[in-house]
Amino acid sequence: MTQILCTSAKKAPSVDLAVVPVFEGQALADLPYLSPSRAKAAGREAFTGAKDQSLLLLDGEAKSPRLLLLGLGKGKDFTLDSLRKASQRGARQGRELKAKALALLLPEPGGFGEVALAAAAAEGALLGLYRYQRFVSKPDDKKDPASLALVGADHAAARAAVAEARVRAEAVCLARDLVNCPPSDLTPEIFSREAKKALAGLAGVSLKVVSKAQAARLGMGGLLGVSRGSDKPPVFLHITYKPKGKARRMVALVGKGVTFDSGGISLKPAKGMEDMKCDMSGAAAVLATVQAAARLKLPVALHGLCALTENMPGPGAAKPGDVFKAMNGKTIEVLNTDAEGRLILADALAYGARLKPDMMLDMATLTGAAVVALGAELTAVMGDQKVVDLVLAASKLSGEKAWQLPLVPEYKEHMKSKIADIKNMGRAGQAGTIIGGLFLQEFKGDVPWAHLDIAGPAHLDSEAGLLPAGGTGVPVRTLLELLKGL
Ligand code: BES
Ligand code: MN
Ligand code: ZN
Repeated sequence: MTQILCTSAKKAPSVDLAVVPVFEGQALADLPYLSPSRAKAAGREAFTGAKDQSLLLLDGEAKSPRLLLLGLGKGKDFTLDSLRKASQRGARQGRELKAKALALLLPEPGGFGEVALAAAAAEGALLGLYRYQRFVSKPDDKKDPASLALVGADHAAARAAVAEARVRAEAVCLARDLVNCPPSDLTPEIFSREAKKALAGLAGVSLKVVSKAQAARLGMGGLLGVSRGSDKPPVFLHITYKPKGKARRMVALVGKGVTFDSGGISLKPAKGMEDMKCDMSGAAAVLATVQAAARLKLPVALHGLCALTENMPGPGAAKPGDVFKAMNGKTIEVLNTDAEGRLILADALAYGARLKPDMMLDMATLTGAAVVALGAELTAVMGDQKVVDLVLAASKLSGEKAWQLPLVPEYKEHMKSKIADIKNMGRAGQAGTIIGGLFLQEFKGDVPWAHLDIAGPAHLDSEAGLLPAGGTGVPVRTLLELLKGL
């Protein structure tokens, strides 16, 4: 685990690799690690600081045998995400070069301030160094750098912000680990053990594990119905976090935790089915967010609700045409057993509504249609406008992209069932993501609510910016930004 230090430019330490992000057109004189001869070399190599340009100089100067110049692009286009990405790149380059001590020169604060820059650099490095090697017999011998000095932010506020960034990054990495874990190594039961571990010893946190029998008594017909095709019992987790003083708000976070989605009797095609280990990403994000909120001692009360089950086609599996009764009494005709997320979330939202929170957010890898509509990198957000606005504002700060879709009331017609209150599908090929949101809306009671469909960004085939291939930990950072702002 890389230690992160904050120092002034005057005290810039001697390191194995110095990383210097540079704006386009910025004069290269008078910066730590940049001697006149290095500045000249950069000029010879036509390094201008253009976006994504990089130049590695291996000229062996005393304070830093190696120097990595990274182009930030034009100053006017600069965002904290530009620095997160530069820091990610620098940290990885450091590991590649087997550097033990790294330094990153923070850019001129501009509108952001040193504290925000230090936090962004720390976050980018820690997120960028993530890798998942649990199932590799010979882990990479390239170790993470032992230290990273952030040069240009030498005060207590910067150090505190860096410590917070570490907590956030560790939560994101916890979610990534859970998503990346093979499905038979992360069943509902194992997930709940991991939750216990992740929350152990945190002040103000308690964990209630609702068993299958208890879920049945609570009337969770959706969760029980979906779990019937699996030989493993479902688990419902109710995590609570109560801050020490008076809580500013009470928020319920609800996560879809399908530890493997085969589709059930409406079986999915074989191609790409392995990716359905990611169908518990919502639950992983809920757990990780509550963990970080408690570690950061955020002054908000939280209920983290994770509905955990497999969706399998075993002998007892629910059949297309079956009717389930959710915890709020509404009956659902199951036309497609592969639209299972909404069935378990129906119960989880109804459970959450009973707690009477000020707002409720659910996250779920709910619909393939979200990927069709917005691509792999965006979260689709729907719900009550006030809560949606909070999510969109937080997503701008976190850099995790999100876009709102409308909950078109007229489309509720598409879910009319002949024999039950509602059916779990709309019309084939029409607004599948919106239908998912409209379905969930029926179960959130009168609590202000937003639904985050993370089917795209929760798990990626290939890296995209700060999001690695595999589990990404979306939307943990957005949730933490939102909670911090309450
Ligand atoms: N877990 C899937 C959605 C999904 C697809 C997540 C791709 C991540 C990547 C969900 O349970 C599902 O199967 N949804 C169906 C709904 C349909 C049957 C109404 C879908 O998207 O096809
Ligand atoms: Mn499904
Ligand atoms: Zn699913």
